[in-house]
Amino acid sequence: MPDVVVFEDPTGSGKPIELERFEVPSDLPDYEQRVGKIPEADPHYVDLGMLYRFAQLEKVRREAPSGFVPLHVAVRGHMGTGKDHDIEQFAARLGLPYYRIPLTGEVRDVTLIGSTKLHGDGKGGTESRWEDGDITRALRGPALINLSELNAAGAETLFALHGLLDRYAALDLPTGETVRLRSDVRIFGTMNPTDLRDYAGTQTLNKAFADRWVIWEKDFPPADRIEEMLRIRYRDLKAPYVEAIARLAVEVNESFRSRDTTTRVETPLSLRAVLDRIPTGLRIYAEDDDPLRRAWEEFVLPHIDPYDRDHYETVWSAVVRRGPAPPPFER
Ligand SMILES: Nc1ncnc2c1ncn2[C@@H]1O[C@H](COP(=O)(O)OP(=O)(O)OP(=O)(O)O)[C@@H](O)[C@H]1O
Ligand SMILES: [Mg+2]
Repeated sequence: MPDVVVFEDPTGSGKPIELERFEVPSDLPDYEQRVGKIPEADPHYVDLGMLYRFAQLEKVRREAPSGFVPLHVAVRGHMGTGKDHDIEQFAARLGLPYYRIPLTGEVRDVTLIGSTKLHGDGKGGTESRWEDGDITRALRGPALINLSELNAAGAETLFALHGLLDRYAALDLPTGETVRLRSDVRIFGTMNPTDLRDYAGTQTLNKAFADRWVIWEKDFPPADRIEEMLRIRYRDLKAPYVEAIARLAVEVNESFRSRDTTTRVETPLSLRAVLDRIPTGLRIYAEDDDPLRRAWEEFVLPHIDPYDRDHYETVWSAVVRRGPAPPPFER
């Protein structure tokens, strides 16, 4: 019996989607290593809809009469909206080995594709041997490849990937070998939007490259979903705290999107701040008069540029002014 996973529509309107999990063939030379790269399911993960959309596309792909449809999804959203996490959790659900390959400005195509290296031949001389780069290695078996920070990559790097991403669906190595896109390989990407704010080292995506992707936007989560994430992750965090943190996040991020440059904040409140840093601050300062204020001062403000602190403080005053009564946790 094949292993089946069910994806539920978090909005409740679409039908559940059933998909068979992938299997890693046991005769692959790197079988052990590959199986070790299948991610664990995150018990605290809340699907904001992205996982279900991925599943919709996957289902259409699998049912396509022509067999192969070269559709790759790039998720575009601001920092800390949970893009990489969604893609990783999709790999976990489908049982695919997960290869996250950041395309920073420094990464060269030899790192991604491979190069010929000199090795000792055991007889005192040397011989040259081809060594797969990160992408080539991933393509040799079932894989979900996440090319993160797509718009930070240099143009040459992207050109090297053009053929892989379109109907040609293969990578030509300098050795003459052609590595084809297997039916059990999926390619995803993530990027930050460049329209609203600058992210150092990013640029607008080259149009020919962008055309090889399905681009989906990922927005900041709304208050009720942030509350849900906090409650699932911190079961004993008291409700007034959950609500205050969610409102701070929503208001800061609303201000981040504002067109008014005189009052808007320049740094969003990421899910990392909301789910990791603030609750850590609450634990540390649980005995304080105002634990939320201390957590804000010690775990949020230091991440903000000095000229931006006033804007953050304006949001604080408007939304909280004084944090909920301590202690933050039931236990
Ligand atoms: N849907 C979710 N449910 C629960 N936790 C989440 C979810 N999405 C993200 N997180 C948490 O938020 C953190 C940030 O997510 P992630 O690293 O995926 O963001 P990102 O959008 O890739 O950010 P960046 O653009 O900065 O790379 C993760 O460490 C994870 O713990
Ligand atoms: Mg990321």
